[in-house]
Amino acid sequence: MSHPRRPRLPLASGRLWTGVMIALFAAHAAAQGVIKGDPAKAQQIVTQVCAACHAADGNSPSPANPSLAGQHPEYLYKQLRNFKPQNGKPAERNNGVMAGMVASLSDDDMKNLAAYYAGQKPKPRSAKDAALVKQGEAIYRGGIMAKGVAACASCHAPNGAGMPAQFPRLAAQHADYTAGQLKAFRSGQRANDPASMMRTIAAKMSDQEIAAVSEYIAGLR
Ligand code: HEC
Ligand code: HEC
Repeated sequence: MSHPRRPRLPLASGRLWTGVMIALFAAHAAAQGVIKGDPAKAQQIVTQVCAACHAADGNSPSPANPSLAGQHPEYLYKQLRNFKPQNGKPAERNNGVMAGMVASLSDDDMKNLAAYYAGQKPKPRSAKDAALVKQGEAIYRGGIMAKGVAACASCHAPNGAGMPAQFPRLAAQHADYTAGQLKAFRSGQRANDPASMMRTIAAKMSDQEIAAVSEYIAGLR
């Protein structure tokens, strides 16, 4: 990025709110426990199934499919569980493609796959549109004060690495995927975020703001 890094805007109320959310979610994450999978045991499923869309190294070449490389194992495991209907309840994250993929996976398979993709090295990507990146950086680092949108950096970290185990990594994700998820949170089509954290934020964002922050995130490293 050519422009200099600015210090974070003082967003006192946003920080307080975020602090409350983090405390709430930390309790939730502690209840979930730390994921211990064996990446070697995931190799066969990766090669035969997942690699076609997410690549064997987790750096998906197509913007239609998210990159998984370096994502926190707890988040990956949670998403795999959420794609699958559990105990007679509908899937918490509704996606036709991934529903088919997880249907035959056991709980151990999911843990092993989560460990495998968490252990892959994310490849940096470059943002393309400089004007969007500038607006996106302001949103990512400072939020949108007039609308009460909290800074993304406060939960997903300034460099987009996230915070294990609570907040997923976003850096170097395809902009199309990030924008698609923000719109899905906004419409409520994706509703598996604890305490509605992402639905509350996305509900206040315009298409233009979503495009800008997604472009900035693609270039984060
Ligand atoms: C036919 C293509 C395809 C295959 C094969 C596939 N996926 Fe996916 N995967 C997707 C798409 C598309 C999404 C985005 C779903 C959405 O928009 O909610 C996704 C999402 C995910 C996510 C959520 C990522 C995030 O950042 O939230 C995980 C985890 C995942 N896939 C793991 C796997 C694993 C493990 C396998 C192998 C068992 C697999 N996928 C096979 C297409 C595929
Ligand atoms: C209060 C904490 C918090 C803040 C602030 C926050 N997020 Fe999130 N975000 C989360 C949590 C928690 C999840 C994981 C939801 C789940 O478990 O499925 C998430 C998930 C996401 C995802 C889905 C990732 C994936 O791989 O599918 C995207 C995209 C995202 N956030 C973007 C943003 C953006 C952009 C902002 C700023 C405008 C932001 N977030 C601000 C907590 C936060």
